[in-house]
Amino acid sequence: MSLLEVRDLKVHFPIKAGTLLQRTVGAVKAVDGVDLDVEAGTTFGLVGESGCGKSTLGRAIMRLTEPTSGSVTLDGQDILALGERKMRAVRRQFQMVFQDPMASLDPRQSVESLLTEPLRAHKIPGGSAGHAKRIRELLDVVGLPESVVHRYPHEFSGGQRQRLGIARALVLNPALIIADEPVSALDVSIQAQVINLLKELQERFSLTYVVIAHDLAVVRHISKTVAVMYLGGIVEQAPAADLYKQPLHPYTKALMSAVPVPDPNVEESRSRILLQGDLPSPANPPSGCRFHTRCPWKQATKCDTDRPALRELPLVAPGHKVACHYAEDILAGKITPHDVRPEDVELVPAGETTSGTEAAADATEAHVAGGLTPGGPPGAH
Ligand SMILES: Nc1ncnc2c1ncn2[C@@H]1O[C@H](COP(=O)(O)OP(=O)(O)OP(=O)(O)O)[C@@H](O)[C@H]1O
Ligand code: SF4
Ligand SMILES: [Mg+2]
Repeated sequence: MSLLEVRDLKVHFPIKAGTLLQRTVGAVKAVDGVDLDVEAGTTFGLVGESGCGKSTLGRAIMRLTEPTSGSVTLDGQDILALGERKMRAVRRQFQMVFQDPMASLDPRQSVESLLTEPLRAHKIPGGSAGHAKRIRELLDVVGLPESVVHRYPHEFSGGQRQRLGIARALVLNPALIIADEPVSALDVSIQAQVINLLKELQERFSLTYVVIAHDLAVVRHISKTVAVMYLGGIVEQAPAADLYKQPLHPYTKALMSAVPVPDPNVEESRSRILLQGDLPSPANPPSGCRFHTRCPWKQATKCDTDRPALRELPLVAPGHKVACHYAEDILAGKITPHDVRPEDVELVPAGETTSGTEAAADATEAHVAGGLTPGGPPGAH
């Protein structure tokens, strides 16, 4: 059974205009109709290039960002329907691990204080002695010595700090952990240690993870299922091995073709799919298939008018889903890639007012400031 079920989740950030920003002239569609299921005790990997909506989706699942519409069900409970008091109690069940633990750990608090705070806030019984015992156990499970209890976050290395971030996420025995780029700020050698730690903890405590990364390699070995996100939607989702063996969506094919293969013979004979054009703005996403402005397989009908649903194909592995009208024909080699002339993606709908234009331009700036890397596939970073 799924521990987490997400249905048609949308997060649209309003674009305001006017002197007092009182008019809403559009929306940044950061997450725009996402369905996903995460089985208890497994890892769901979520990949996609910068700005595609991964963090917003993670935050919306935890209601750290309020979704615009859709549903999020955790262990059978519709959490978007909960009032503030009930939501506070449910919050214990899910925790987040961040890319930069310094941003989430108060630098003025010692390790002891950082780890005791959630126990006190949720009135966990045991008193000071019980809490101190729990902290010693936690430090042990994340591989930190007991002696660090009186130290402060800035005294740790990046890897140790992430271990501390993981310890804090574990304090309340959560069922679900959403790890947003948990290793992307760490050296490559340390990345493997932290990924291995997450794996060990999952086995030991039957944890369920959603691991967000822009790097396909990070999620490959830890995930049961991997989903690829593009411009606010999931374009492909499959058991990890199947996705890497047989990517079906043109966008996934392009991402995979950018990841180097360790075998030099295979590497030399591989053909790269270089994506043309920038990632369009989520303030004005392309019509139809969001990928049609960059897709080398784009066809004259349907691609720019109908948004394809995420669907399972009959002839591929069970659970392998793809959002492409022509997935069967691409798989069978009936249609082949062609050159792409990047279409100009309008920033504002025709007829929009001047202030609307400014607002949309602002939104585009905000989106660039949010770390968008035009055209850069995750594997290439
Ligand atoms: N609070 C906000 N208000 C307006 N727009 C936002 C807000 N938060 C995020 N966005 C926009 O939503 C889009 C998705 O952002 P998000 O941070 O979820 O992407 P991401 O996939 O996590 O990117 P990265 O890999 O860089 O972390 C971006 O265009 C971003 O600028
Ligand atoms: S629906 Fe069309 S544009 Fe979209 S990925 Fe498939 S072929 Fe490409
Ligand atoms: Mg992010």
